[in-house]
Amino acid sequence: MPRQLTVLGIESSCDDTAAAIVRHTEGSEPEILAQVVVGQAELHKDFGGVVPEIAARAHAEKLDYCVADVMAAADLSFSELDAIAVTSGPGLIGGVISGVMCAKGIAAATGTPLIGVNHLAGHALTPRLTDSVPFPYLMLLVSGGHCQFLIVRGVDDFTRLGGTIDDAPGEAFDKIARLLALPQPGGPNVEQAALNGDPARFRFPRPLLDRAGCDMSFSGLKTAVLRARDSVVAAKGGLTKQDQADLSAGFQQSVTAVLNEKSRRALTVYLAENPPVPTFAVAGGVSANMDIRSALETVAAENNTRFLAPPLALCTDNAAMIAWAGLERFRAGHQDDMTLSARPRWPLDTASKSMLGSGKKGAKA
Ligand code: KG4
Ligand code: ZN
Repeated sequence: MPRQLTVLGIESSCDDTAAAIVRHTEGSEPEILAQVVVGQAELHKDFGGVVPEIAARAHAEKLDYCVADVMAAADLSFSELDAIAVTSGPGLIGGVISGVMCAKGIAAATGTPLIGVNHLAGHALTPRLTDSVPFPYLMLLVSGGHCQFLIVRGVDDFTRLGGTIDDAPGEAFDKIARLLALPQPGGPNVEQAALNGDPARFRFPRPLLDRAGCDMSFSGLKTAVLRARDSVVAAKGGLTKQDQADLSAGFQQSVTAVLNEKSRRALTVYLAENPPVPTFAVAGGVSANMDIRSALETVAAENNTRFLAPPLALCTDNAAMIAWAGLERFRAGHQDDMTLSARPRWPLDTASKSMLGSGKKGAKA
Protein backbone atom coordinates (compact mmCIF):
# COMPACT_ATOMS: atom_id res chain seq x y z
CA MET A 1 0.00 0.00 0.00
CA PRO A 2 1.56 3.36 -1.01
CA ARG A 3 2.04 5.86 1.80
CA GLN A 4 0.20 8.49 -0.20
CA LEU A 5 -3.37 7.80 -1.37
CA THR A 6 -5.54 9.98 -3.61
CA VAL A 7 -9.24 9.11 -3.65
CA LEU A 8 -12.23 10.44 -5.60
CA GLY A 9 -15.47 10.52 -3.58
CA ILE A 10 -18.99 10.59 -5.00
CA GLU A 11 -22.14 11.40 -2.98
CA SER A 12 -25.75 11.37 -4.25
CA SER A 13 -27.87 9.82 -1.49
CA CYS A 14 -30.24 12.73 -0.84
CA ASP A 15 -30.51 16.11 -2.55
CA ASP A 16 -26.87 17.12 -3.06
CA THR A 17 -24.83 15.85 -6.00
CA ALA A 18 -21.21 16.02 -4.89
CA ALA A 19 -17.71 14.97 -5.89
CA ALA A 20 -14.42 15.55 -4.08
CA ILE A 21 -10.81 14.43 -4.09
CA VAL A 22 -8.93 13.78 -0.87
CA ARG A 23 -5.22 13.03 -0.58
CA HIS A 24 -3.50 11.65 2.47
CA THR A 25 0.10 10.80 3.15
CA GLU A 26 0.61 8.64 6.24
CA GLY A 27 1.87 10.72 9.12
CA SER A 28 0.53 14.03 7.79
CA GLU A 29 -2.84 15.84 7.69
CA PRO A 30 -5.32 14.82 4.98
CA GLU A 31 -5.89 17.37 2.24
CA ILE A 32 -9.06 18.10 0.26
CA LEU A 33 -7.68 18.80 -3.22
CA ALA A 34 -11.03 19.87 -4.67
CA GLN A 35 -14.72 19.56 -4.03
CA VAL A 36 -17.96 20.33 -5.84
CA VAL A 37 -21.49 20.28 -4.41
CA VAL A 38 -24.53 20.91 -6.62
CA GLY A 39 -27.66 21.32 -4.47
CA GLN A 40 -31.21 20.64 -5.62
CA ALA A 41 -33.14 22.97 -3.31
CA GLU A 42 -34.58 24.89 -6.26
CA LEU A 43 -35.99 21.70 -7.86
CA HIS A 44 -37.83 20.59 -4.70
CA LYS A 45 -38.91 23.92 -3.24
CA ASP A 46 -42.53 23.80 -4.46
CA PHE A 47 -43.09 20.34 -2.96
CA GLY A 48 -42.25 20.94 0.70
CA GLY A 49 -39.62 18.19 0.74
CA VAL A 50 -37.26 16.15 -1.43
CA VAL A 51 -39.10 14.31 -4.24
CA PRO A 52 -37.14 11.07 -4.80
CA GLU A 53 -37.87 10.79 -8.54
CA ILE A 54 -36.80 14.36 -9.22
CA ALA A 55 -33.70 13.89 -7.06
CA ALA A 56 -32.65 10.70 -8.87
CA ARG A 57 -33.01 12.31 -12.29
CA ALA A 58 -31.05 15.40 -11.25
CA HIS A 59 -28.24 13.25 -9.80
CA ALA A 60 -28.04 11.23 -13.04
CA GLU A 61 -27.82 14.47 -15.02
CA LYS A 62 -25.26 16.22 -12.80
CA LEU A 63 -22.88 13.47 -11.65
CA ASP A 64 -20.70 13.34 -14.77
CA TYR A 65 -20.24 17.13 -14.70
CA CYS A 66 -19.42 17.15 -10.99
CA VAL A 67 -16.76 14.48 -11.48
CA ALA A 68 -15.29 16.24 -14.53
CA ASP A 69 -15.25 19.58 -12.67
CA VAL A 70 -13.58 18.18 -9.57
CA MET A 71 -10.92 16.35 -11.59
CA ALA A 72 -10.20 19.56 -13.51
CA ALA A 73 -10.12 21.64 -10.32
CA ALA A 74 -7.57 19.24 -8.78
CA ASP A 75 -5.72 19.07 -12.10
CA LEU A 76 -5.67 15.26 -11.98
CA SER A 77 -6.25 12.49 -14.50
CA PHE A 78 -8.05 9.25 -13.55
CA SER A 79 -4.75 7.35 -13.71
CA GLU A 80 -3.56 9.39 -10.71
CA LEU A 81 -6.37 8.11 -8.48
CA ASP A 82 -5.76 5.19 -6.12
CA ALA A 83 -9.45 4.48 -5.57
CA ILE A 84 -13.00 5.67 -6.24
CA ALA A 85 -15.28 5.83 -3.20
CA VAL A 86 -19.04 6.13 -3.56
CA THR A 87 -21.98 6.33 -1.18
CA SER A 88 -23.69 2.97 -1.66
CA GLY A 89 -26.35 3.56 1.04
CA PRO A 90 -28.37 4.35 3.05
CA GLY A 91 -30.44 6.95 1.22
CA LEU A 92 -32.97 7.57 -1.53
CA ILE A 93 -32.41 4.56 -3.72
CA GLY A 94 -32.61 6.29 -7.12
CA GLY A 95 -29.88 8.75 -6.18
CA VAL A 96 -27.69 6.07 -4.60
CA ILE A 97 -27.99 3.93 -7.76
CA SER A 98 -26.98 6.92 -9.91
CA GLY A 99 -23.83 7.42 -7.84
CA VAL A 100 -22.92 3.74 -7.74
CA MET A 101 -23.38 3.40 -11.52
CA CYS A 102 -21.23 6.47 -12.13
CA ALA A 103 -18.45 5.14 -9.88
CA LYS A 104 -18.62 1.67 -11.43
CA GLY A 105 -18.39 3.19 -14.91
CA ILE A 106 -15.21 5.07 -14.04
CA ALA A 107 -13.75 2.08 -12.18
CA ALA A 108 -14.47 -0.28 -15.10
CA ALA A 109 -13.09 2.12 -17.69
CA THR A 110 -9.91 2.99 -15.80
CA GLY A 111 -9.24 -0.15 -13.74
CA THR A 112 -9.28 1.91 -10.52
CA PRO A 113 -10.35 0.11 -7.31
CA LEU A 114 -13.96 0.75 -6.24
CA ILE A 115 -15.06 1.23 -2.61
CA GLY A 116 -18.63 1.45 -1.35
CA VAL A 117 -19.09 3.77 1.62
CA ASN A 118 -21.91 3.97 4.15
CA HIS A 119 -23.12 7.60 4.09
CA LEU A 120 -23.34 7.65 7.89
CA ALA A 121 -19.77 6.36 8.17
CA GLY A 122 -18.80 9.33 6.00
CA HIS A 123 -20.33 11.71 8.55
CA ALA A 124 -18.99 9.72 11.48
CA LEU A 125 -15.37 9.67 10.23
CA THR A 126 -15.28 13.40 9.35
CA PRO A 127 -13.56 14.39 12.66
CA ARG A 128 -10.58 12.34 11.48
CA LEU A 129 -10.50 14.20 8.14
CA THR A 130 -10.66 17.62 9.79
CA ASP A 131 -8.82 17.05 13.09
CA SER A 132 -7.14 13.62 12.93
CA VAL A 133 -9.16 12.59 16.02
CA PRO A 134 -8.03 9.21 17.42
CA PHE A 135 -10.50 6.37 18.08
CA PRO A 136 -12.65 5.99 20.11
CA TYR A 137 -14.70 9.19 20.09
CA LEU A 138 -18.35 9.98 20.70
CA MET A 139 -20.34 11.30 17.77
CA LEU A 140 -23.76 12.93 17.58
CA LEU A 141 -25.06 12.82 14.04
CA VAL A 142 -27.93 15.27 13.86
CA SER A 143 -29.39 16.21 10.48
CA GLY A 144 -32.59 16.34 8.44
CA GLY A 145 -32.63 12.57 8.11
CA HIS A 146 -30.67 11.25 11.05
CA CYS A 147 -30.18 11.53 14.77
CA GLN A 148 -27.98 9.07 16.60
CA PHE A 149 -25.19 8.79 19.15
CA LEU A 150 -22.29 6.60 18.04
CA ILE A 151 -19.09 5.52 19.68
CA VAL A 152 -16.72 5.47 16.72
CA ARG A 153 -14.16 2.77 17.51
CA GLY A 154 -12.65 2.12 14.09
CA VAL A 155 -13.15 2.60 10.37
CA ASP A 156 -15.80 -0.13 10.40
CA ASP A 157 -16.58 -0.34 14.07
CA PHE A 158 -19.47 1.70 15.45
CA THR A 159 -21.60 1.27 18.55
CA ARG A 160 -24.94 3.06 18.46
CA LEU A 161 -25.95 4.24 21.93
CA GLY A 162 -29.36 5.53 20.85
CA GLY A 163 -31.20 7.58 18.31
CA THR A 164 -34.52 9.02 17.31
CA ILE A 165 -37.42 6.60 17.18
CA ASP A 166 -39.35 8.81 14.76
CA ASP A 167 -38.45 12.18 13.19
CA ALA A 168 -34.93 13.59 12.96
CA PRO A 169 -34.52 17.04 14.56
CA GLY A 170 -33.81 18.75 11.20
CA GLU A 171 -37.01 17.26 9.83
CA ALA A 172 -38.84 18.63 12.89
CA PHE A 173 -37.33 22.11 12.37
CA ASP A 174 -38.46 21.96 8.72
CA LYS A 175 -42.00 20.91 9.66
CA ILE A 176 -42.25 23.60 12.35
CA ALA A 177 -41.20 26.21 9.78
CA ARG A 178 -44.03 25.02 7.54
CA LEU A 179 -46.52 25.20 10.43
CA LEU A 180 -45.43 28.74 11.21
CA ALA A 181 -45.30 29.89 7.58
CA LEU A 182 -41.53 30.44 7.75
CA PRO A 183 -39.39 29.68 4.67
CA GLN A 184 -37.43 26.45 4.02
CA PRO A 185 -34.95 25.13 5.05
CA GLY A 186 -36.67 25.39 8.39
CA GLY A 187 -33.67 25.14 10.72
CA PRO A 188 -31.97 28.49 10.08
CA ASN A 189 -35.32 30.31 9.77
CA VAL A 190 -36.76 28.90 13.00
CA GLU A 191 -33.46 29.73 14.73
CA GLN A 192 -33.63 33.27 13.39
CA ALA A 193 -37.26 33.71 14.48
CA ALA A 194 -36.45 32.27 17.92
CA LEU A 195 -33.92 35.06 18.56
CA ASN A 196 -36.78 37.48 19.24
CA GLY A 197 -38.99 34.95 21.01
CA ASP A 198 -39.89 34.17 24.60
CA PRO A 199 -39.25 30.44 25.12
CA ALA A 200 -41.29 30.47 28.34
CA ARG A 201 -44.59 31.57 26.74
CA PHE A 202 -45.37 28.04 25.50
CA ARG A 203 -44.30 25.05 27.54
CA PHE A 204 -43.65 22.20 25.11
CA PRO A 205 -42.88 18.57 26.09
CA ARG A 206 -39.34 17.19 26.31
CA PRO A 207 -40.05 13.72 24.87
CA LEU A 208 -38.44 10.58 26.31
CA LEU A 209 -36.50 12.39 29.05
CA ASP A 210 -38.40 10.20 31.50
CA ARG A 211 -37.09 7.08 29.78
CA ALA A 212 -33.61 5.74 30.52
CA GLY A 213 -31.05 5.64 27.74
CA CYS A 214 -30.22 7.77 24.72
CA ASP A 215 -33.23 7.25 22.44
CA MET A 216 -35.10 10.38 21.36
CA SER A 217 -38.44 11.32 19.80
CA PHE A 218 -39.44 14.55 18.11
CA SER A 219 -42.78 13.87 16.46
CA GLY A 220 -44.92 14.49 19.59
CA LEU A 221 -43.17 17.82 20.05
CA LYS A 222 -44.18 18.79 16.53
CA THR A 223 -47.82 17.92 17.32
CA ALA A 224 -47.65 20.02 20.49
CA VAL A 225 -46.44 23.02 18.46
CA LEU A 226 -49.24 22.43 15.95
CA ARG A 227 -51.85 22.48 18.74
CA ALA A 228 -50.39 25.64 20.28
CA ARG A 229 -50.37 27.33 16.89
CA ASP A 230 -53.99 26.31 16.25
CA SER A 231 -55.14 27.69 19.57
CA VAL A 232 -53.42 31.03 18.90
CA VAL A 233 -54.99 31.17 15.43
CA ALA A 234 -58.42 30.25 16.87
CA ALA A 235 -58.14 33.00 19.50
CA LYS A 236 -56.69 35.77 17.34
CA GLY A 237 -57.50 34.82 13.75
CA GLY A 238 -53.83 34.50 12.77
CA LEU A 239 -50.21 34.52 13.90
CA THR A 240 -48.26 37.70 14.59
CA LYS A 241 -44.50 37.88 14.17
CA GLN A 242 -44.22 37.68 17.95
CA ASP A 243 -46.33 34.49 18.02
CA GLN A 244 -44.04 32.95 15.37
CA ALA A 245 -41.00 33.97 17.41
CA ASP A 246 -42.38 32.63 20.72
CA LEU A 247 -43.47 29.30 19.18
CA SER A 248 -40.05 28.95 17.49
CA ALA A 249 -38.21 29.75 20.71
CA GLY A 250 -40.29 27.29 22.76
CA PHE A 251 -39.79 24.53 20.21
CA GLN A 252 -36.04 25.14 19.91
CA GLN A 253 -35.65 25.17 23.67
CA SER A 254 -37.29 21.74 23.91
CA VAL A 255 -35.08 20.24 21.17
CA THR A 256 -32.01 21.72 22.86
CA ALA A 257 -33.05 20.36 26.27
CA VAL A 258 -33.53 16.85 24.86
CA LEU A 259 -30.21 16.85 22.97
CA ASN A 260 -28.48 18.28 26.04
CA GLU A 261 -29.70 15.60 28.44
CA LYS A 262 -29.26 12.71 25.99
CA SER A 263 -25.71 13.91 25.20
CA ARG A 264 -24.96 13.93 28.91
CA ARG A 265 -26.08 10.30 29.15
CA ALA A 266 -24.18 9.24 26.00
CA LEU A 267 -21.04 10.91 27.37
CA THR A 268 -21.39 9.01 30.64
CA VAL A 269 -21.46 5.69 28.78
CA TYR A 270 -18.55 6.69 26.54
CA LEU A 271 -16.36 8.10 29.32
CA ALA A 272 -16.86 4.93 31.40
CA GLU A 273 -14.59 3.25 28.83
CA ASN A 274 -11.73 5.63 29.76
CA PRO A 275 -10.91 6.79 26.22
CA PRO A 276 -7.34 8.14 25.99
CA VAL A 277 -8.41 11.40 24.27
CA PRO A 278 -12.05 12.05 25.28
CA THR A 279 -13.75 13.74 22.33
CA PHE A 280 -17.38 14.57 21.56
CA ALA A 281 -17.96 15.48 17.90
CA VAL A 282 -21.09 16.58 16.07
CA ALA A 283 -22.05 16.45 12.41
CA GLY A 284 -25.16 17.16 10.37
CA GLY A 285 -26.96 20.36 9.42
CA VAL A 286 -28.63 20.83 12.82
CA SER A 287 -25.22 21.27 14.45
CA ALA A 288 -25.22 24.73 12.81
CA ASN A 289 -27.81 25.81 15.40
CA MET A 290 -26.02 28.05 17.91
CA ASP A 291 -28.37 27.28 20.79
CA ILE A 292 -27.93 23.53 20.33
CA ARG A 293 -24.21 23.82 19.67
CA SER A 294 -23.52 25.84 22.80
CA ALA A 295 -25.56 23.41 24.91
CA LEU A 296 -23.50 20.50 23.60
CA GLU A 297 -20.27 22.44 24.10
CA THR A 298 -21.24 23.05 27.71
CA VAL A 299 -22.02 19.38 28.36
CA ALA A 300 -18.63 18.41 26.90
CA ALA A 301 -16.80 21.02 28.99
CA GLU A 302 -18.56 19.88 32.18
CA ASN A 303 -17.23 16.40 31.44
CA ASN A 304 -13.67 17.51 30.59
CA THR A 305 -14.17 16.34 27.05
CA ARG A 306 -12.97 18.03 23.88
CA PHE A 307 -15.88 19.31 21.75
CA LEU A 308 -15.51 19.28 18.00
CA ALA A 309 -17.78 20.64 15.29
CA PRO A 310 -16.24 20.36 11.82
CA PRO A 311 -16.76 23.35 9.47
CA LEU A 312 -20.39 23.43 8.31
CA ALA A 313 -19.57 22.53 4.69
CA LEU A 314 -18.11 19.25 6.00
CA CYS A 315 -20.93 18.72 8.55
CA THR A 316 -23.66 18.74 5.90
CA ASP A 317 -23.77 16.30 2.98
CA ASN A 318 -20.58 16.45 0.91
CA ALA A 319 -18.29 14.12 -1.03
CA ALA A 320 -15.04 14.88 0.83
CA MET A 321 -16.34 12.79 3.75
CA ILE A 322 -17.06 9.92 1.32
CA ALA A 323 -13.62 10.18 -0.26
CA TRP A 324 -12.06 10.20 3.22
CA ALA A 325 -14.10 7.24 4.54
CA GLY A 326 -13.24 5.37 1.33
CA LEU A 327 -9.56 6.21 1.78
CA GLU A 328 -9.61 4.92 5.36
CA ARG A 329 -11.41 1.72 4.28
CA PHE A 330 -9.00 1.21 1.38
CA ARG A 331 -6.00 1.64 3.65
CA ALA A 332 -7.56 -0.93 6.01
CA GLY A 333 -7.67 -3.41 3.12
CA HIS A 334 -11.29 -3.10 1.94
CA GLN A 335 -12.23 -3.08 -1.71
CA ASP A 336 -15.46 -3.75 -3.61
CA ASP A 337 -16.07 -5.12 -7.07
CA MET A 338 -18.77 -4.76 -9.74
CA THR A 339 -21.26 -6.60 -7.51
CA LEU A 340 -21.40 -3.56 -5.22
CA SER A 341 -25.09 -2.74 -4.81
CA ALA A 342 -27.04 0.32 -3.72
CA ARG A 343 -28.67 -0.15 -0.31
CA PRO A 344 -31.61 2.03 0.79
CA ARG A 345 -31.15 0.75 4.36
CA TRP A 346 -27.82 0.08 5.96
CA PRO A 347 -27.43 0.46 9.74
CA LEU A 348 -23.91 1.32 10.85
CA ASP A 349 -24.18 -0.78 13.95
CA THR A 350 -25.79 -4.08 13.04
CA ALA A 351 -25.26 -5.51 16.53
CA SER A 352 -27.57 -3.04 18.33
CA LYS A 353 -31.29 -3.62 18.20
CA SER A 354 -32.94 -1.72 15.38
CA MET A 355 -34.75 1.44 16.30
CA LEU A 356 -38.50 1.48 16.83
CA GLY A 357 -39.02 3.92 14.01
CA SER A 358 -37.40 1.74 11.37
CA GLY A 359 -39.69 0.34 8.70
CA LYS A 360 -40.89 -3.17 7.89
CA LYS A 361 -37.86 -3.89 5.74
CA GLY A 362 -35.41 -3.32 8.60
CA ALA A 363 -33.52 -0.52 10.19
CA LYS A 364 -32.76 2.38 7.89
CA ALA A 365 -29.75 3.48 9.83
O1 KG4 B 1 -26.98 17.49 7.19
P1 KG4 B 1 -27.96 18.21 6.34
O2 KG4 B 1 -27.47 19.30 5.42
O3 KG4 B 1 -28.72 17.23 5.38
C1 KG4 B 1 -29.28 16.03 5.74
O4 KG4 B 1 -30.32 16.05 6.42
O5 KG4 B 1 -28.69 14.99 5.35
O6 KG4 B 1 -29.07 18.79 7.31
C2 KG4 B 1 -30.14 19.55 6.83
C3 KG4 B 1 -31.05 19.80 7.98
C4 KG4 B 1 -32.34 20.49 7.57
O7 KG4 B 1 -33.42 19.80 8.13
C5 KG4 B 1 -32.17 21.90 8.16
O8 KG4 B 1 -33.41 22.50 8.52
C6 KG4 B 1 -31.32 21.62 9.38
O9 KG4 B 1 -30.40 20.65 8.95
N1 KG4 B 1 -30.61 22.83 9.80
C7 KG4 B 1 -30.80 23.41 11.00
C8 KG4 B 1 -30.03 24.61 10.99
N2 KG4 B 1 -29.38 24.68 9.79
C9 KG4 B 1 -29.76 23.58 9.07
N3 KG4 B 1 -31.55 23.05 12.05
C10 KG4 B 1 -31.54 23.88 13.13
N4 KG4 B 1 -30.85 25.04 13.17
C11 KG4 B 1 -30.09 25.45 12.14
N5 KG4 B 1 -29.40 26.58 12.19
ZN1 ZN C 1 -26.05 13.18 5.52
